[in-house]
Parts: sequence; C-alpha cells; structure tokens
Amino acid sequence: MSKRYKIALIKGDGIGPEIVDEAVKVLDAVASVTDIEFDYNDYLMGGCAVDVFDTPLPQETINGALESDAVLFGAIGGPQYDSLPKDKRPETGLLQMRKELGVFANLRPAIIFDELTAASTLKEEVVKGVNLLVVRELTGGIYFGQPREKLPDRAYNTMVYTVEEIKRIAKVAFEQALNRDKKVTSVDKANVLEVSQLWREVVEDVAKDYPQVHLEHMYVDNAAMQLIRDPKQFDVILTGNIFGDILSDAASMVVGSIGLLPSASVGGKVGLYEPIHGSAPDIAGQGIANPIATIMSASMMLRDLQEHVAADKIEHAVKEVLKEGYRTKDLSSFDAKEVVSTSEMGSLIAEYATK
Ligand code: IPM
Ligand code: MG
Repeated sequence: MSKRYKIALIKGDGIGPEIVDEAVKVLDAVASVTDIEFDYNDYLMGGCAVDVFDTPLPQETINGALESDAVLFGAIGGPQYDSLPKDKRPETGLLQMRKELGVFANLRPAIIFDELTAASTLKEEVVKGVNLLVVRELTGGIYFGQPREKLPDRAYNTMVYTVEEIKRIAKVAFEQALNRDKKVTSVDKANVLEVSQLWREVVEDVAKDYPQVHLEHMYVDNAAMQLIRDPKQFDVILTGNIFGDILSDAASMVVGSIGLLPSASVGGKVGLYEPIHGSAPDIAGQGIANPIATIMSASMMLRDLQEHVAADKIEHAVKEVLKEGYRTKDLSSFDAKEVVSTSEMGSLIAEYATK
C-alpha cells in the first residue's frame, strides 16, 4: 500500500528556493521507485513573507506547517531586511516557527565525506573519519529568555533553563548516543553561569538512566578548542541554544563545507528539516549554490517518517555523486571531475537515487 505524506515547503529567501527545488526533485525521484508519495504545499516565511504579508511568519504558514507530516525549509534573510524592526526581521519568523512547532531538539550531524577531506581547512589526518552529532536545545536559553530589552544606554537578555527543558533535551542526546558510539559530551559554562550549573546537575541525573553511555562535561570555550584540535574525540555533543548555534557552525567547517550539513528540529508536533547554512544572498539566483545540505535534510526527514529505505537511497546517491567527482562551485577545487550547477547536482543525485 502506498503511503502519502503531506510536506510543507518553506523555500524562504536568497538561495532557499533553488535548493529546496532540488530536494523536491530528489524526493520525487525516490517516490518514483518506492511506494511513497508526497503532496507538497508552499508557504512563505522570512523576508519573502514580509514583502507580501508584512510579517515574517504569516498565520497561514503556521497552520500549513501544523497540518503537515513534516516541514522542509530552505533559508531566510537578506540585506534588504537587516534594518527592519525586530518583529519584522526574517530570523524572528524562524524563531517563532520553532516555538510554534515546539521543536526543542535540533540535531546537527557533522559527518565527513571521504572524498572531501581535502575541503576541510584542517589537516586530513585530523578530520578523516569525523562523525559527530550536535544536539542543540532550540526553543529555550538566551534566545527566548525573559526579561529582555534594548534601552538607549544598555540592553540585556536572560539565559534561563528549567529542569524540564534540560531533562528533555538531555534524553534526546542520550537516546541518540545509544545508536552511535555511546558517548555524550555535555557542553556548558558551569564555571561562570548558574544556568550551566543546573544544566550539569540535571544532565548527571538523566545519565543515570543510561549506564551504557559515557558522559563527560566540557566548558564551551574548551569545546570550541577541542573541536578544532581533535574533532574525532566527539560522538554526541549536548548543549544549549546559543552554544549549539556557535559550535555547529564550527563543526560544519571541520567537515569541509557548510553547504553539506543538514539538520532536523524535532520533539514537537511536526518536524522541521533545514540545511544549517543561511540564505547566501550574494550568490542567489546564479545556480551555483550547493543543494546537498537541503537534500540531506530531506533524507533526515524521511528517517523520522520511518522511511529508511528511501533515506538510504538519498544518502547513497549523494555519496556516489561526490565519489564520481561532481562538485558545485563551493567545492570545485577538491578533486572535481566536473563542476556542475545547483540544478545539475540535484538531477544527478535524483538519477542515482533511483538506481
Ligand atoms: C541557525 C541560525 C539561526 C539561529 C538564525 C538564523 C536565527 O543561525 O539556525 O543556526 O541562530 O538559530
Ligand atoms: Mg546558526
């Protein structure tokens, strides 16, 4: 019996539409050789929504996302929106969407492709074999803490975590570790911040339910250093919202290109799947963006829908196409046999995914 999934597409700004279109191409290719079907609905979020609705997150986008089985999202933002007041900024739309969906757990795997070890700015022996997962808390911490205010002579934000918030994200990290190398590195700043002291206590508590998993704690400054020094020491990195934002960007460069890394935001009503990179307005519309991060995000989406065969097909196709030497412009200096456009890359992966 064929299964039908309702997918909300939020293409967004900049390169967003180009890369989401390629992910859809690949999803359709996979659908053609499996018993899965997709119904897509497009919604606006970010700058493009401000242009039309005067708000970065229209109610119909929220409703559309909530009525779907999953949300596939591209990217948002652009220089023309940078000077808008906070409630109109594209980023505000994304942050509110995460809250509306309740997706408190952001999973950001950083896995190096063997063919692309040279693309890392780090030495090959340091990065070969890196396979880590950042589990970032996504709907709390300093991003959302109250009170917050900008006054003429000062401004402040509040970093707050409740025991419940820490517990549920810690559980996600330990569950992930069970299916990996069974190691969790919890990253905090407990030598300075009370909120991190609580974080540590609660994580220790949750760890008691996972005796098979090794837990270590690391201060965030040290973690940033260790990520660059010896990234292979990490399996699962568990951390709060802002530290996870920073460390996941760093992790992306360890494995070569921010254009390769997908993410899944889960734990709420509907999962949100997006590349970790931004909207790259400087290259939008040129057909040179790398669609692989979004295509891999679609694969993470399929896994959460329990469509593992289809997800495997996508991941396999991406690996094969890279192995064959096809590269988008960002990776053109690394063993490229042929430099291809955004849509050529999508077509190649789609073709391999049907094999
Ligand atoms: C990310 C981005 C967002 C964040 C921005 C665009 C609000 O940097 O998804 O990592 O800080 O969470
Ligand atoms: Mg970020």
